[in-house]
Amino acid sequence: MRKKIVAGNWKMHTLLKEGMELAEKVERFSKEKGDDVIVVIAPPFTHLSKIREVTDLVKLAAQNCSSEESGAYTGEVSPDMLLSAGAEYVILGHSERRAYYHEDNHLLNKKIRLALDKGLKPIYCCGEVLAEREAGKLFEVVKDQLTVGLQGLNTAQFSQVIIAYEPVWAIGTGITATPAQAQEMHAFIRNLIADMYDDRIAGETTILYGGSCKPSNARELFANPDVDGGLIGGASLKAEDFIQIVNAF
Ligand code: 13P
Repeated sequence: MRKKIVAGNWKMHTLLKEGMELAEKVERFSKEKGDDVIVVIAPPFTHLSKIREVTDLVKLAAQNCSSEESGAYTGEVSPDMLLSAGAEYVILGHSERRAYYHEDNHLLNKKIRLALDKGLKPIYCCGEVLAEREAGKLFEVVKDQLTVGLQGLNTAQFSQVIIAYEPVWAIGTGITATPAQAQEMHAFIRNLIADMYDDRIAGETTILYGGSCKPSNARELFANPDVDGGLIGGASLKAEDFIQIVNAF
């Protein structure tokens, strides 16, 4: 079902104690607010099980997972491990993983399938770099990320997937996509999903915007008909800012 979601991607920030304090603040706020918006936080792996002890309404995401179920893969973390630590979601295909760890759409497809098989909900990221936008290739790039990354998922599997459109030029730069740019791509993504599945499924898909989303611009971004929430980086590290973004709906 299409849901309103605001997810905080903490990336490689916070030590355990600060992470716990941040999570506790977000949980307290969520309890006051009620449950019309699903609030998700994605702390580092090392914090998940401790943060699970202090959260209930706030849902947990991991920032990555292995494409393998178990075995001799030093340094990898499996979907089962994440589930056992209390994660419900997993961010996959973030542009930082694509750029720095060379994760491509085929590997991401493998990760998405395994995560789904195990019962984790993928938050699958897509988005173009500036040169691709300037060359008019933004739709082609996003189409490729989605068609290859989501290849072979049946309807039931796809219904568990959340899409996050994160134009790479907007991530951590302070340059936010305009509401019109976000809406244009979100509508494109929804139409693409209608082609891959059907109109009903496209209408039920949650599509988040990410990239320099902050309290000052969240409201106008979320007001777009095809923007169902945000994947927030920097502004999710300050409870007050993150809470204001959740309140922007
Ligand atoms: P910023 O909000 O810091 O631009 O990061 C966005 C992001 O990468 C979320 O996954």
